[in-house]
Amino acid sequence: MRLDRAASIEDLRRMARRRIPRFAFDLVDGGAESERNLRRNTAAFEEVELTPRYMVDVSDIDMHATILGQRFDAPFGMAPIGMLNAFWPDADLTLARLCKRENIPYVASSAASTTLEHLAEAADGNGWFQLYVSSDATVTEGLIARAEAADYKVMLVTADVPAAGKRDRDIRNQLAVPFRITPEVLLGLVANPRWSLETLRHGKPNIANYADLLQSATSYADVQKTLITPGFTWDDLRRLRDRWRGKLLVKGILHAEDALKCAEIGCDGIVVSNHGGRQVAFGPPTIEALPEIAKVLGGRIEIIVDSGVRRGADVLRAKVLGASFALTGRALAFGVGAGGPAGAQRAMDILKLEMERALGQLGVPAFRDLCPDHRTRNRSP
Ligand SMILES: Cc1cc2nc3c(=O)[nH]c(=O)nc-3n(C[C@H](O)[C@H](O)[C@H](O)COP(=O)(O)O)c2cc1C
Repeated sequence: MRLDRAASIEDLRRMARRRIPRFAFDLVDGGAESERNLRRNTAAFEEVELTPRYMVDVSDIDMHATILGQRFDAPFGMAPIGMLNAFWPDADLTLARLCKRENIPYVASSAASTTLEHLAEAADGNGWFQLYVSSDATVTEGLIARAEAADYKVMLVTADVPAAGKRDRDIRNQLAVPFRITPEVLLGLVANPRWSLETLRHGKPNIANYADLLQSATSYADVQKTLITPGFTWDDLRRLRDRWRGKLLVKGILHAEDALKCAEIGCDGIVVSNHGGRQVAFGPPTIEALPEIAKVLGGRIEIIVDSGVRRGADVLRAKVLGASFALTGRALAFGVGAGGPAGAQRAMDILKLEMERALGQLGVPAFRDLCPDHRTRNRSP
């Protein structure tokens, strides 16, 4: 299928699935355990109804959004994704450049396959940095100092990984760290020659910020210990708030009381996120967790939402329910997987077109004017 025939993000996902070996596709597409949370994320967005209002002049649609003092051309950005070059070679840089061109934020993951310095350069002022707090304090401090030196102004600290998610697809695929060529992997390489050649040309995907961590690790436990810690607490967050002079967001908040604590500690915002359904199968979809969080925060700090955004209208739904901005991980990743830089652009164009049309249909010429009134009344609890 040609890229211009892809009408939706789901079409791009299907195209990506055909070009990428199963173990690499599942690494991005999969969720925790039964994947109930992954499915609920998108289903719950779909369930939120907005009622169109007509006979409003919508000849000029304004999708700008200002957040944390930065004005963006659209109200969403790219979520941090680790190891994305395993999905498609150079995916990190492709998306960072796309975000710069489109003037939306690009969040560089601590666990990216490209260094945070390279990503800052590619995103050129539109880069935010995502921090995983390591069990080794010197590793964490090293990353923060590098992020400062690379001139990132916004840091997101990810809170929802006290333990690594259990992802059944990765277990079934025998996804091993460091990578091993198993019979399944070999089959995937032979069946997807384009992916294999490009991956050979660009080199084995690594977690670039941690000096060849994947290459030198002898077990997955090694990697995990460097990347994350089960010992990250509110006291550590307070220390991080003192340490980081830029804007600080906490990513992975689902409970209203946790959101309130983030505000009390002096964070500039939160990302209501369940890590795209990759951590647990039993948790709530973010769009359902959002209203209570927005109510409790009462506008004190910024609220961003991710996990399940697949349509332009999902960003509008998030705004109507109390967020001011959204992130998407897989939607843009599927674009790169479907067709490299052109595929990423296609994903971007689809989301923007859907958003623009939906605003027109709702009779709301400017994204910033969307409010709870636009929610369908008789369905609201
Ligand atoms: C393959 C993959 C890797 C991810 N890596 C990270 C990461 O390194 N840091 C992080 O904070 N979140 C990570 N996430 C979570 C995303 O930032 C984001 O919360 C999630 O993808 C949003 O859900 P969506 O994919 O449905 O849009 C990852 C998600 C995926 C799919």
